This record gives sequence, C-alpha cells and structure tokens, in this order.
Amino acid sequence: MTGSAAPSLFGRPVTISGLGAHLPGKVLTNHDLATFLDTSDEWITQRTGIKERRVAEEGLSASDLGIIAARQALADAGLSPEQVDLVITATISPDRLMPATAARIAYQCGCVNAGSLDVSAGCTGFVYALAMAAGAVASGLHQYVLVVGAEAISRLLDWQDRATAVLFGDGAGAAVISPLEGASERAGAKTGVGILGFDLGSDGSGEEFLLIPAGGSRLPASAETVAARQHYMKMNGHEVYKFATRVIVQSALRVLEHCGKTVDDLDLFVPHQANLRIIEAAAKKLGVPENKIYTNLQRYGNTSCASIPLCLSEARAEGKLRAGDLVLLMGFGAGLTWGACLLEWTDGKAAGAGGTSTHTAGSTAGGNTHEERN
Ligand code: UT7
Repeated sequence: MTGSAAPSLFGRPVTISGLGAHLPGKVLTNHDLATFLDTSDEWITQRTGIKERRVAEEGLSASDLGIIAARQALADAGLSPEQVDLVITATISPDRLMPATAARIAYQCGCVNAGSLDVSAGCTGFVYALAMAAGAVASGLHQYVLVVGAEAISRLLDWQDRATAVLFGDGAGAAVISPLEGASERAGAKTGVGILGFDLGSDGSGEEFLLIPAGGSRLPASAETVAARQHYMKMNGHEVYKFATRVIVQSALRVLEHCGKTVDDLDLFVPHQANLRIIEAAAKKLGVPENKIYTNLQRYGNTSCASIPLCLSEARAEGKLRAGDLVLLMGFGAGLTWGACLLEWTDGKAAGAGGTSTHTAGSTAGGNTHEERN
C-alpha cells in the first residue's frame, strides 16, 4: 500500500452542521435491466445486494441533482448562501471536463462569496472533499464549506456492458462543514467532538482497474475512441473487490487507532455503497456487528460520491444517527483511492449561522435500513 496518512484534526473543532439529499424519481429495477442486458435479478441481488437504482431524467446532469441537495444542506444548517466560503463538489460524473461542476452549483445556490472546485478521487471523493473542508475550517482559513457529492453516472455507463451497467445509480448528497458551536479549543487533542480524523490513501498502480479510458489528455476523444466505446466506464470488478475488502479494514483501523478509539466504540459504520458483499466481508473482518452498518445500495445502487452523504441523511431521518454517536465513514474507488473519516455526530446548527433554517429531514426519499439498531 502506498501514500497513506492518518492525521487527526488539529485546530478549532469542526462538525457537519447540515445535510441534504436528492434522488431522481425514475426507478430502474433489476428486472428492467434484464429486458435489454444478459443479466438477471437473481445474479445482481446475490452478487451485489442491489435491487434497483435511480436514473436522472433526460437533460439533467450531476450539478442539477447536486444543487437540490446543496440547498437542502444550507437550509438544514440554518445558513444563507452568502455565508459560504467554499463549495467543493466530489464527483466522477462532472457536468463537463471544464469548468468545475462546483462553479455551477455555487452559482445556482447563490453562494456569491464562495470559491468553488471539484475533487476527483473516484468514489472516495466525498471523504476526500470532507477532509479538505474540515482542514480549512479547523485552521480558520474558512468558516463554512459546502461539500456536495453529485453523480449522474448513468450518462457515463455503457448500457451494453453488464459488468458495470447493473451496479451504479444517480443521486446527490451534501453537507455543510462549520466550526462547532460552544466547543472549547482543543489544538493538538486526539479526541474530542465533531470531525475527529481522517485516513486518506491512494495507489496509482491500480489505475487500469477502474477508469474512463478516453476523453482526457492521455487519450483525447476521437471518432475511434467513441467507436471503441472508450468514453464509458470500464472496471475489473474482481480486482476492485479484492482491493476494497483489504483497504476498508486497514484504513478503518488506522483512523480509529489514530483517534484513540476502537471498533467497539463505534455506533454507526457508513461505508461507500458499492456491493453488500464487500461491506459485509469488511465489517466481519473488522468486527462491526450488522446492526451498526448503514446501507441503502439495495434501492440506489452505487451512487459513488453521493453514497455516504445520502446514507447520513437517511440514517439521521430514521433516528439512527444521533448526537454523541461515533461514526465511521469509509470510501474507496478509482485511482485506486480510499479514505476513512471518524466523527462524533453533533446535532447542531452552524455556529454563527445567519440564514433561515427549515431544518429539512435531508433525504427526499424514505429511509431503507440494513437492520434496526439497538
Ligand atoms: O465504487 C467503485 C468500486 N467498485 C466496486 O467496489 C465494485 C467491486 N466489484 C464487485 O462488486 C464485483 O466484483 C462485481 C459485482 C462487479 C462482480 O461480482 P463477482 O462475484 O466478482 O463476479 P465476476 O466478475 O467474477 O463474474 C462472475 C460471472 C462471470 O461469468 P463466468 O466467467 O463465470 O461465466 C461474469 O461474466 O458472472 C458474470 N457476470 C454477470 N452475469 C450476469 C458479470 N456481470 C454479470 C451480470 N449479470 N451483470
């Protein structure tokens, strides 16, 4: 494994003070897929746990979904858009190669005083963006950062390729990162409240296992690349599967140890929603009991950078994410990349928020749980 570091957060305490989520209404079931692909509900369910996924209506892009989730997160935090300092969009399906999808989201949300950028880190993007946001707020560089995981992956799938087309779905989730109101300064402390620490890693030797081969500067788009369908996502599922089950365990243990916690301290495990078998195998190795794992891939498939904030929104709406809970977020994906975040959930508004809060429940869809938590 290369390039991994597990810092705990220094500086002022920071937290997630608002959540938002949006899913397109169009549902595509496994049975629907079997009408035009050589696949079956049985295969997809047994190998992945996925039963159905959402597909963005024609004409909509990642930013269109992200804007709705972002507005919800701002309202939930009680923040007005003018207060936001930075908008970070994590996505593998950006509106365009250039400019950043975040610029449109910031503009459409009215974040007129904010910088904006995209984070490209495969399906790990949300955790990476969260780390950037948390660091910026903890250091005092920024006060409020809006992190949006937005995906219209259906546009980048080869609908003739059963190895990828059955796995992914569209959706968006958003989080506001802000200073933690009322918390005392804890510079140098290894444990506390709010966002506690991260473990981010990357191993570029696995680049070919999950990629869109053409359309960038290494293989510019041409009639030939389009004819060869190289503008679509390609994946060596078996290699990614092995990588994922390995890094989830390693990264989770690193961030826990670095923050002075153990697996037994965890209240909720929110892994990237790629495959139920990956999640269950990793959780078993870690010793996380089933009733502490949150999943929604059964209904949405792999929503890439949106999967973790979608889970957080739904878990909170279902009362499964409560103030004081120790939560482990775990992302992994193209790059290859991985990222773990440990946080103690706080149920507060953004400190110094000046906006009008409507305190939305977050998700636009009803929650679907893995199992009831004690
Ligand atoms: O978020 C990014 C990270 N991505 C992931 O984490 C994905 C990681 N990988 C996986 O989740 C799994 O590897 C898959 C779900 C993609 C595949 O499951 P698998 O158990 O590794 O299956 P496999 O690729 O070894 O394929 C087994 C068989 C093959 O047939 P043969 O060679 O045994 O005759 C495949 O051709 O299943 C076949 N197959 C399918 N059959 C029906 C592959 N895809 C399908 C399909 N429907 N959609």
